[in-house]
Amino acid sequence: MEKATNYSNQNKDRYLEELLNILRIPSVSADSKHKDDMIRTAEFIKASLEKAGADNIEICPTKGHPIVYAEKIIDPKLPTVLVYGHYDVQPPDPLELWESPPFEPIIKKTNLHPEGAIYARGSCDDKGQMYMHVKAFESMMQTGTLPCNIKFMIEGEEEVGSSNLGIFIKANKQKLKSDVVLISDTSMIANDIPSIDVGLRGLAYLQVEVTGPNRDLHSGVYGGAVANPATILCKMIASLHDENNHVTVKGFYDDVMTVSDKDRADLAKIPFDENEYKKDLGIKEVWGEKGYTTIERTSIRPTLEVNGIWGGYTGEGAKTVLPSKANAKISMRLVPNQSSEKIAELFTKHFKSIAPDNVTVKVTADHGGEPVITPTDSVPFQAASKAMEKTFGKKPIATRSGGSIPIVALFERELGVKSVLFGFGLDSDNLHSPNEKYGLFNFYKGIETIPYFFKYYSELMK
Ligand code: BES
Ligand code: MN
Ligand code: MN
Repeated sequence: MEKATNYSNQNKDRYLEELLNILRIPSVSADSKHKDDMIRTAEFIKASLEKAGADNIEICPTKGHPIVYAEKIIDPKLPTVLVYGHYDVQPPDPLELWESPPFEPIIKKTNLHPEGAIYARGSCDDKGQMYMHVKAFESMMQTGTLPCNIKFMIEGEEEVGSSNLGIFIKANKQKLKSDVVLISDTSMIANDIPSIDVGLRGLAYLQVEVTGPNRDLHSGVYGGAVANPATILCKMIASLHDENNHVTVKGFYDDVMTVSDKDRADLAKIPFDENEYKKDLGIKEVWGEKGYTTIERTSIRPTLEVNGIWGGYTGEGAKTVLPSKANAKISMRLVPNQSSEKIAELFTKHFKSIAPDNVTVKVTADHGGEPVITPTDSVPFQAASKAMEKTFGKKPIATRSGGSIPIVALFERELGVKSVLFGFGLDSDNLHSPNEKYGLFNFYKGIETIPYFFKYYSELMK
């Protein structure tokens, strides 16, 4: 694979220039005003794959944003790697907190990225990481070193739940037939501590609405005599964790797989500096479920979070009002063997049961996804581990991620294939936050490492 590495090195500046160009397109899947930008981004990827040497490239329309498909079948008898990534990004707001505009990428040096990092929405999640695969593929194609078959499926709706991709997968099982899915959409521990995620949490996302009086009221005339839905909602939300920060939803932990002492001991070995962590986040203390470490709280334990809460008057100045309604968006991260559907039902039942008689409560389920874990003794994990060892000069550590990629469980269920979570970002890259960034080191290291995955995977599959 030295040939591919050399080719990548020679084309390094162009590869970066291309990434900056794709980052300039505001591909925000949640916002319908960016519909055309989504199509432009899909066309950009199609053109890149074409130039790299892929065949049968298609922009597949869906009810939502299109999916880009491409393949290179060098020999049907050889194994096939399905590369998955997403070109959609999270909305960039709050815009005023960005130090440079989210869709005008610039390169700046930081402590963790002394070589420079690309600041832009989607630089890490996931355009930058997805594009490493397109470029690694180009480097292998242009040097005649692609050792097995490859298929690409790049979607535009990951950040909004991938529901149309689910439909696409069910309808295209033959087309997507493959031996493993390769995904770069997660993080590693640090640039000098490579790691591979062997687990992702699931997700159950709901919205609640608490209604009190049939209209907003004068808070002087009615306040004190009529239950305020904002106060009631806050009390209800506060009761969702007990004094040990356990989630109180009845039955919430029933299906949680207990993690062995050995696995917990392995997690404890992961380098983690709690002081650095607090400093980076500007917090005085960490928080969480009693009896678990920060790493455990964000990987092997389920959680419940309020993502947003609103109601009543939130505009400029003061308005004395007792609101008729208060709302919140609540999500739960799930671990094996919890089911997102079951947890959504348990939550709904519980939340309604704790509502006092002076309000009515509506609970609506939004999207969900199932947790996954992958075995470290599998061929794909071994190949990924060898590849990282080759290019980082150290064996990667197996970790479990706190984030979710709901489609991974569907790959398993519908296509019967496991995924390798070959992430090159850092948790501190500000995914979903203002000032998202992706290290140049990480971008280039990914492009260098991916061809080795193909090499070792093909060798181990012989
Ligand atoms: N790439 C992330 C998931 C992720 C981030 C995994 C960091 C591991 C480490 C993905 O784009 C994402 O944001 N997923 C959402 C779920 C989705 C249904 C909106 C998430 O985890 O909140
Ligand atoms: Mn992502
Ligand atoms: Mn994301």
